[in-house]
Amino acid sequence: MISIAIDGPSGSGKSTISKILAKKLGFLTLDTGALYRAAAYYFLNNNINYKIKDKVVNNLKNINISVNHDKNAQLIYLNGKNITNFIRTPEVSSAASDISAIPEVREFLINIQRDFAKKHNVVMDGRDIGTVILPNADVKFFLTASPNARAKRRYNQLMEKNSSKKIKLEDIIDSISNRDFNDSNRKISPLTADKDAIIIDNSLLNLEETVDVFLNAIKERVNIETK
Ligand code: DC
Repeated sequence: MISIAIDGPSGSGKSTISKILAKKLGFLTLDTGALYRAAAYYFLNNNINYKIKDKVVNNLKNINISVNHDKNAQLIYLNGKNITNFIRTPEVSSAASDISAIPEVREFLINIQRDFAKKHNVVMDGRDIGTVILPNADVKFFLTASPNARAKRRYNQLMEKNSSKKIKLEDIIDSISNRDFNDSNRKISPLTADKDAIIIDNSLLNLEETVDVFLNAIKERVNIETK
């Protein structure tokens, strides 16, 4: 099986790029942030205080997360229920960032990620894919962009979806900076580029240009046809 690892901070476009690459390569995607989000959703939905580490750790045994693909779209199930559409709220984002700093939570989610790569050719995106989850990935990328560039992209996405809501760019920059700080400074598996990773800063690249940089790097390293 072939695996492509893409790590990087929130809003760098990892998921979008992963989906495009997977389509071109005929691979599946695994957006691993969705696994942390699914666990966070469990705590929020059951009114369990996720800020108390013991409560989180003691409840992991009650959580069963699985992933399925429907026409290449990733679906996430929590205890048998499809929760794909409920895990993109700001509350879930913030709780996911908090619980992802707990070593037992990370350990709990390792197997689902590694098993997936054993069974499928995959483009897997997250924060520690190249460093921890798939240290032998065929190609490793670290995709980043300035906080302002990432915040502007998220702002535009949100405006498209909720044009009636008042959204402030400064609030998004704050939230991205907070998550960057949390994700990069936690003791376990902090967000960092693996020594073998190809580092791509796409602050000044559009989507098409970014995809080209990825595809060229993949073709140089893996003998594979693209669609
Ligand atoms: O990529 P995302 O925004 O959906 O991720 C949600 C949170 O999960 C993010 O704050 C960091 C965490 N995460 C992680 O620690 N490791 C991963 N491989 C993926 C996500």
